[in-house]
Amino acid sequence: MTELHNNYDSDRRMLSLWWGYTDESYVIDNELLQSLERALKKYWYWILQYENCYWLQNLREKIVKWAPEFYKIPQFSTESLIITSGITAWLDLVWRNILWGKYDALIIEPCYDTAIRSIQQNSNQIFSINASDNGDGFIKITTDQWNEIRIIFSKWTVKLLYIVPNYSNPSWLSISQEDKIKLLSLCKEFSVTIFEDDPYALYDYSWKNNGIKTFYELDTNHESVIYANSFSKIGFPWLRIGFLVWNPQVIAKISEIQKYSISSPNLLTQWIVEDMIDAWIFTKVFKHRFSAMKNKYINFIATLNESEVASINQYISWINGWFYAWINVKNWTKFTDLARENGLVVIPWKIYWCNYNFEEYIRVTFSQIPSKDLEIATNKLIRTFMTI
Ligand SMILES: Cc1ncc(COP(=O)(O)O)c(C=O)c1O
Repeated sequence: MTELHNNYDSDRRMLSLWWGYTDESYVIDNELLQSLERALKKYWYWILQYENCYWLQNLREKIVKWAPEFYKIPQFSTESLIITSGITAWLDLVWRNILWGKYDALIIEPCYDTAIRSIQQNSNQIFSINASDNGDGFIKITTDQWNEIRIIFSKWTVKLLYIVPNYSNPSWLSISQEDKIKLLSLCKEFSVTIFEDDPYALYDYSWKNNGIKTFYELDTNHESVIYANSFSKIGFPWLRIGFLVWNPQVIAKISEIQKYSISSPNLLTQWIVEDMIDAWIFTKVFKHRFSAMKNKYINFIATLNESEVASINQYISWINGWFYAWINVKNWTKFTDLARENGLVVIPWKIYWCNYNFEEYIRVTFSQIPSKDLEIATNKLIRTFMTI
């Protein structure tokens, strides 16, 4: 059953130093209870009522005011916004709506596993470009690959391009503004919609991506880009609340589907999110999380650099931000055996690709390890590299 998602025991190839999405060192219990209490006081009389299908209007209005500055994206209207149960539910719902099981999609590989599974469910076929690194943390798209994209768009009925533009999961690569402009123009020429999944842009430790415009901003008439972001990576994944910004006509249409689908977000959680924006909780938590994550990143890199592994660069490419490292272990089987001997948990991980093969890579999650254990964990990794 290697195709199943979230079957961690059998289908994930991950060097799991610890499991979890993000750093959890910020204690939220008290904040959560306070938000819940305030939300219930404000909305208690709505309990057991359904909201309209655009979901909590107050939260929509709040996001419209708050998100542009927080995420550094252009202003948008409430009519362009829909609140979602995290980005995840909307990968499925939007693609169902765009692809209908009969149109094709293009992705950049390696690609966020959930996105691949979801496109597989909803498309006719998936095309992909194998992204290599330009040496500076950005995707290198060769002339041949540009031609290939044009050929794919001309020959097939591609309606969707899925991309994580900043610190993509799992490759950590970003896309430059110049390539964004080129890609957007190609997509416009062939009426391909870009799904811009951007939860990692803010984790830009070296400011290399600062100032690069989103696809959404570059698409001045806002016809070709769906911008998606979430409260998961700046706050708490368990809230399961995210949002999409898209063309108001399509938002109106698709909200109808949300009404009768499981993607409709839980009203109680939306109240809490509204309160958390009001009480500046995301701002506070993100500040804490950014600094915790950046410190771990710096310590992880420093411990690797100080190691006696002769040429650590042959395994790891240096990253500018984000939570993970994408490491070339050359020989996956050998690496797994040695890593286990060194006390690392290695979980099979085969779901980051669909047309290409990234068998020699693993994703290392340094962000989820408590700071005090990071050095020990990194040393286990170093020991493995030294014996490989
Ligand atoms: C690229 C990307 N998009 C979306 C998500 C999930 O977002 P959400 O929690 O809002 O569903 C993840 C989580 O790992 C991710 O890596």
